[in-house]
Amino acid sequence: MRNTNSKNLTPLTQSSFNELSNDRLQFIIKSFVSHLHDFARDTQLTHEEWRAGLEFLHQAGAITDQSRSEFSLMSDVFGLSSLVDLLAMSSANATPGSNLGPFHSRGSPVMKSPANLLKNNEGQAVAFRGKILDLKGNPIPKATVDFWQNADNGLYWQQDPSQAQDNLRCMLHTAEDGCFEIVTIRPKPYTIPMDGPVGALFTLSNRSPWRPAHMHLIVEAPGHKTLVTEIFDEEDPYLDNDAVFGVREVLVASYKKAQDTELLSRYKDIPNLLEVRLDLVLE
Ligand code: BEZ
Ligand code: FE
Repeated sequence: MRNTNSKNLTPLTQSSFNELSNDRLQFIIKSFVSHLHDFARDTQLTHEEWRAGLEFLHQAGAITDQSRSEFSLMSDVFGLSSLVDLLAMSSANATPGSNLGPFHSRGSPVMKSPANLLKNNEGQAVAFRGKILDLKGNPIPKATVDFWQNADNGLYWQQDPSQAQDNLRCMLHTAEDGCFEIVTIRPKPYTIPMDGPVGALFTLSNRSPWRPAHMHLIVEAPGHKTLVTEIFDEEDPYLDNDAVFGVREVLVASYKKAQDTELLSRYKDIPNLLEVRLDLVLE
């Protein structure tokens, strides 16, 4: 094309991907080009602004390493991660997905339910009990539950050399009745990493960097869609302005004084045990 102009540039760029053999990838890239160009047109993007945008991406690249992705964080704080989670749901009766976050890694210690993660952690002890169900309400036995959360100082074990390796995480299987139980501590709210370009944008925008306290879960069972989700604390002050938009009403659970005699007798040495219950429905 000898005469590229602002009208033919978008179809011209799109058709440069015509040879992409993966049809879905070709479709996604052409749509991306179309939205990217529309963004520049809508905003009448100047050279200065375009350079500032590239600099933001350069800074994100510079601070990203094996254990920290500023690009994932960008996806989270611009609501993209949460939107992809919501789009992945095809049944309104299934438990909604929520942010995976940056602190999940494979290889969690395999434990038997009921699992006790307390060890020497500070904090309020709580028994998290749940049942994994299918869309018809039948319990799913032997479903895998991968669980992780932060410690009483708000940090995950990977962020904090004072914590033992694998602190406050485990992997277990549901019993025949679909139930599981994890004794842990009540998680704490914490802020997203603020030392990179995303943090600088938050400061400029006077945006709250807090995430409400949550427990993370990945639930897997053959024949069902894997569920990546979070359980939030009803009393958390940041529920209404999660920095990464992960909160859904049905994922908010209440922490109550444990009443169940069987549970209390199993953990008689734990004073003031709380209980949080949530059943999860897999598609
Ligand atoms: C988290 O849940 O751990 C998390 C999610 C998004 C950004 C930062 C942290
Ligand atoms: Fe988290």
